[in-house]
Amino acid sequence: MTAAEIRRAFLEFFKERGHLIVPSAPVVPQDDPTLLFTNAGMNQFKPYFLGLAKPDSTRIADTQKCIRVSGKHNDLEEVGVSPYHHTFFEMLGNWSFGDYFKRESIRWGWELMTEVFKLPKDKLYASVYETDDEAEQLWRGETDIVPSHVLRFGKKDNWWSMGDTGPCGPCTEIHIDRGPQFDNDPNAFVNSGSRRYIELWNHVFIQFDAQPDGKLVQLPARHVDTGAGLERLATVLGGHNSNYDTDLFQPIIQAIVDKTGKAYSNEDSGIPHRVIADHLRCLTFAIGDGAMPGNEGRGYVLRRILRRAARFGRKVDLQEPFLHKLVPVLVDTMGQVFPEIKDRHAHIARVIEAEESHFGKTLDRGLEQFETVITSLRKSKSLEIPGEEVFKLYDTFGFPLDLTQLMARENGLTVDEKGFTAAMEQQRARARAAGAFKTAHHVSIAAETDVSTTFVGYDNLSVSTRIVVLFYNPDDGMIVFASEQTPFYVESGGQVSDIGQVEIQTDDGPLVAKVNDVVRRDKALIHTAQLDGIHPVLQTAADGQAWLTATLSVPRAHRDPTQYNHTSTHLLHAALRTAFGDHVHQAGSYVGPDYLRFDYTHFSKPTSDELSSIESQVNEWIRGNYRVTPQVKSLKEAQALGAMALFGEKYGDEVRMVEIADDERIVSANCAAAAM
Ligand code: ALA
Repeated sequence: MTAAEIRRAFLEFFKERGHLIVPSAPVVPQDDPTLLFTNAGMNQFKPYFLGLAKPDSTRIADTQKCIRVSGKHNDLEEVGVSPYHHTFFEMLGNWSFGDYFKRESIRWGWELMTEVFKLPKDKLYASVYETDDEAEQLWRGETDIVPSHVLRFGKKDNWWSMGDTGPCGPCTEIHIDRGPQFDNDPNAFVNSGSRRYIELWNHVFIQFDAQPDGKLVQLPARHVDTGAGLERLATVLGGHNSNYDTDLFQPIIQAIVDKTGKAYSNEDSGIPHRVIADHLRCLTFAIGDGAMPGNEGRGYVLRRILRRAARFGRKVDLQEPFLHKLVPVLVDTMGQVFPEIKDRHAHIARVIEAEESHFGKTLDRGLEQFETVITSLRKSKSLEIPGEEVFKLYDTFGFPLDLTQLMARENGLTVDEKGFTAAMEQQRARARAAGAFKTAHHVSIAAETDVSTTFVGYDNLSVSTRIVVLFYNPDDGMIVFASEQTPFYVESGGQVSDIGQVEIQTDDGPLVAKVNDVVRRDKALIHTAQLDGIHPVLQTAADGQAWLTATLSVPRAHRDPTQYNHTSTHLLHAALRTAFGDHVHQAGSYVGPDYLRFDYTHFSKPTSDELSSIESQVNEWIRGNYRVTPQVKSLKEAQALGAMALFGEKYGDEVRMVEIADDERIVSANCAAAAM
């Protein structure tokens, strides 16, 4: 059977048994902070298991795109070496949400395997959880499995949980004995790790919600959650030796053979082909679902995977970026079932290519460096790569720790992980001490340009504008830019700079980055923003070859409380003058969205009575709800009206005078530098 036939037969089987067939969820989980990637078919249904939401049907089936490269379920180390572990795979599954339970699950599991897929009954085994008498009896009563093929195993093999917390329960698995040609070790058996006996289908009986402290809370209903790896089924049902021999992988492997002229084999010489094919699938689907390679979290997982693939490319003499050229082959193979990779193929290929070219610049020198290190280790008869060297490979050549570990393993060496972490920590400390390098970029942008930015943020919290200078560092995702207009308030008069977001328009849709800093350099307001992933379009613009437009916005949730606190400093100033006299001057302040601080000149500490009367005065004014009116005036005019100007503060010819008053009285009037 082909993979497509198996997928269809599985879904058809459950459709006939009242299941609603739903599309796969994206591999980037929508709102589950406990997961970097979707790692099982049941992830998207977690709220149904926990009783937090109701499904459209109590019976559902689908094929789910899964990535297992981080957290509890992580198969990365096995990929390429093993014929059936993957970073990305498809999980066929059927679910019962408080509907049928063990009986139907087991009966249908057997029926599909033996009657539809026609697997030989005497080669199948069922494992059950050590205390699950019910499941064992059902296997014996509801199916004609060889009775001695029902086996009990403990928690490690027959208890399934999504992560450290969340839905979980005992499970029963169907395994197949593929025969001694896969492993003739007489000790080979179910769950022994042998390639002869492999797991085909897991049925989990979800009954509990695991808590962070390890306690199991009984769920309001009992559910079924099953998962069968399509790639393995395709191997077994297609009579293949390895998942890589199936029609899911062969077109990609063939394309690699065509490109490199290196024949493919199931032996070790085929490892590069297998790793590249596997990683290509993972990257394509993850990027297709919106993830981007980057420096942290999910982004760094993708970067690591891409760098591993690039390095295996070198093993088959692929020097130039090549992965992106394989995307169309994968799209041809799987784009029918997952149209998202077809729709976004150009974007996916572009992102992969940018990331490949970037790493390609240091990869060869890194490989040479690695050779130098292991040659000297061999001379000194040492078997461990020192942490410093691992760090150098990471820092200078972009080798992720796991890539160095893998190369070390290939050479029978280990890596001093502790030493690596220590070296990383030291570098972080140095970076902190040296101050942010972004300051240097701000300065160079200001020096290079004659840009002036109009601040529009008193009237608008969002503005659409043109980016006029851009600096982009894809290594750490930092964007430094100046635009024609901005709503971002830049730190002044004690009020902190705004934070917010910039949405850059590109042909591939908007890129949204967090703006976390704004500074003034001459007439330019320079924003620093952070964006995961590599974006060739930003590189092009940074090279001066394209203009970008963007929408800059400051959230109300930041600006409003900051503004309230700013107004409060003026009220506090006025109250202090009322209490102590006109000699009280502002000596400094901090005004943020979270709190305010006001430094003032006075010759003694306030008593607690004085403090509480000042406090009551300020609160009374706040309750009075006076008008806060800004007016732009000349400094002289404002001072003539009694507005306070700060000693030592630089004002232009015009100032922004803010008056807090009602018809009867002026509570406070202050000058601020007028916006540009
Ligand atoms: N959720 C179960 C698994 O991933 C079916 O194995």
